[in-house]
Amino acid sequence: MADTTLMDKLVSLCKRRGFVFQSSEIYGGLGSVWDYGPLGVELKKNVKDRWWWAMVHARDDIEGLDAAILMHPRVWEASGHVAGFTDPLVDCRQCKNRFRADDPRIKGTPGQPDAQCPVCGSKGTLTEPRLFNLMFKTFMGPVEEQAAVVYLRPETAQGIYVNYLNVLQSSRQKIPFGIAQIGKAFRNEITPGNFIFRTREFEQMEMQFFVKPGTDVEWFERWREWRMQWHRDLGLNPARLRWHQHGPDELAHYARAAFDVEYEFPFGWQEIEGIHNRGDFDLGRHQEFSGKKLDYFEQATNERFLPYIVETSAGADRIALTLLVDAYREEEVEGETRVVLGLHPAVAPIKAGVFPLVKKDGMPELATSLYHDLKRRFPSFYDDSGAIGRRYRRMDEAGTPFGITVDGETLTDRTVTVRHRDSMRQDRVAVDRVADFIGERVIGDGE
Ligand code: GAP
Repeated sequence: MADTTLMDKLVSLCKRRGFVFQSSEIYGGLGSVWDYGPLGVELKKNVKDRWWWAMVHARDDIEGLDAAILMHPRVWEASGHVAGFTDPLVDCRQCKNRFRADDPRIKGTPGQPDAQCPVCGSKGTLTEPRLFNLMFKTFMGPVEEQAAVVYLRPETAQGIYVNYLNVLQSSRQKIPFGIAQIGKAFRNEITPGNFIFRTREFEQMEMQFFVKPGTDVEWFERWREWRMQWHRDLGLNPARLRWHQHGPDELAHYARAAFDVEYEFPFGWQEIEGIHNRGDFDLGRHQEFSGKKLDYFEQATNERFLPYIVETSAGADRIALTLLVDAYREEEVEGETRVVLGLHPAVAPIKAGVFPLVKKDGMPELATSLYHDLKRRFPSFYDDSGAIGRRYRRMDEAGTPFGITVDGETLTDRTVTVRHRDSMRQDRVAVDRVADFIGERVIGDGE
């Protein structure tokens, strides 16, 4: 299967089955903004729940936070985003399209007569590169003036830094400790694309770990290991995961060291999470810009210091896409193509499909009652329309790991068929055991 074909097929499956829709589609869509449908919202929620569980609930040294999207404008001066969160862009004076200056489709040097616009093909119409800030601006209060400008946050991390003392004091944590947050972020990306890989509105799952200077390198290594294991526990193909270390010219302005977790997408190896050693850059800058002391007093050693920060920063949308890409496969079964989303049961949107073999002999009643039982424990789906093979196929495409069929035998021995999505193997399981049978299998590693 050609790689671009895989993405096209995935985008079409996502729409057909209700994973992801284009935003405002009936108006022609809004560029690189996407909406999650009934299955997509479950998939993304499972990703976020697993992250929250691993980062907050399973640990004693990390607290949760939900900071507002809108923040004081000075935050973004301190963070370096006002001055430095920019991309060099060029405009075509002819067709008015805008491109990143390093867009590989541009032939020649932008600003020079030889440069050719990749969209309209005009020569000499591309401007010199100009810096363009990626933050979305809006206005707070009734007056549209500079004083009232606020930004939609381009990362959730800053909400953690400005609340670091509040959380430290209210939770009575001691360093080393972390603060975790999941929330929306916005970037006016100029070359967005590849479906939900790079979008203008997305969700981040970020954790900032505050450590004593000198212990940062050790913590950085620990966090690298833990985060890679988390991705493996999602069931992702380990051969498609690797590390990419940032070289000196790639490092962000705040970072002393950075490693990306990369996944091999059909469009190449790409970052899905960044682990950064941010040193004391963030607390130092916020201390300077706010005039408030943010240092920490360590009682055991009688020392005062500005903590260093190790950050783990992942995108929930990007990981949802990674799961979909990794799970998609087509197989020939009895002369027909079967499309399967082989999602790990722990992230699958629906855990079980329940089917009466036929709509008579009390089978629908038994199946409905079983469905209601299961639905109390995990998302399940009832389907009594069409041939049983077609019902299985519909669940295969949705990534549902188990299909349960109530048939003639059920009426006599109170067992049902449990069909496994990946192997298509069928087991007989007692009706009273089905909920536990599935329940035990939908809990993932690392939970
Ligand atoms: N606080 C550090 C930070 O924001 P980043 O590397 O810019 O670092 C971290 O972003 C993660 O956020 C990325 O690895 C990616 O998963 C996600 N992300 C960033 N920009 C995105 C976009 N435009 N669309 C979707 N996800 C994005």
